[in-house]
Amino acid sequence: MINLILFGPPGSGKGTQAAKLVDKYELLHISTGDLFRYEIGNNTELGVKAKSYMNKGELVPDEVTIGMLQNKVEANPDVRGYIFDGFPRTEPQAEALDRFLMSKGQEVTALIALDVDDDEIVKRLLERGKTSGRADDSNEEVIRKRIRVYNETTSVVYNYYDEKGKSERIEGKGTIEEIFSRICESIEKLNV
Ligand code: AP5
Ligand code: MG
Repeated sequence: MINLILFGPPGSGKGTQAAKLVDKYELLHISTGDLFRYEIGNNTELGVKAKSYMNKGELVPDEVTIGMLQNKVEANPDVRGYIFDGFPRTEPQAEALDRFLMSKGQEVTALIALDVDDDEIVKRLLERGKTSGRADDSNEEVIRKRIRVYNETTSVVYNYYDEKGKSERIEGKGTIEEIFSRICESIEKLNV
């Protein structure tokens, strides 16, 4: 099993690269942001709760997020592995993921972090906001808030896996293909 965490600030290209990795390595892509947006689209109780946090650029509480992620994994056991995109985003989420995978005799294979500077992020997300319909892309203040939350609460997850020798940083600026090659190179080195 390959269990990859695709990591990085908002707009760093996690979703874009995950879609390409899924094709190449036959993994299941699990994006907690996409799962929440699906719930919002269906106006479920979970969606209504998540929306109140997402629209402000804040994190949805851990207990909601961890349960949702585990349900998605449990519902898809027969795959070669998973790409976790946008999860874990807090240290308790990382600990919960490790415990959960361990209970299945598995572990996180590697965390790959996309490095992109703030100005580029703001530019990409404002551009996408013109058409995406995502409330959290449409104003610069919310985008800056998401970046702050990433720096204050999420970036520690990189260190958490770095201490286990599992984190790798990749330059996230350049063409989509260039970045994809860098990620593949780093996956090939894992020998999985
Ligand atoms: P989530 O949906 O995870 O959003 P995010 O991480 O903030 O960022 P994005 O998904 O917008 O960016 P991305 O890195 O996937 O980049 P993408 O490929 O789309 O989370 C949204 C919210 O949900 C959170 O704020 C939180 O409220 C909640 N949430 C989610 N998970 C949670 C969790 N675990 N715990 C608690 N709360 C959680 O690319 C961005 C844009 O750039 C696109 O338009 C793309 O076309 C473009 N682009 C991509 N690559 C390039 C490139 N190389 N050059 C130029 N443009 C590029
Ligand atoms: Mg995404």
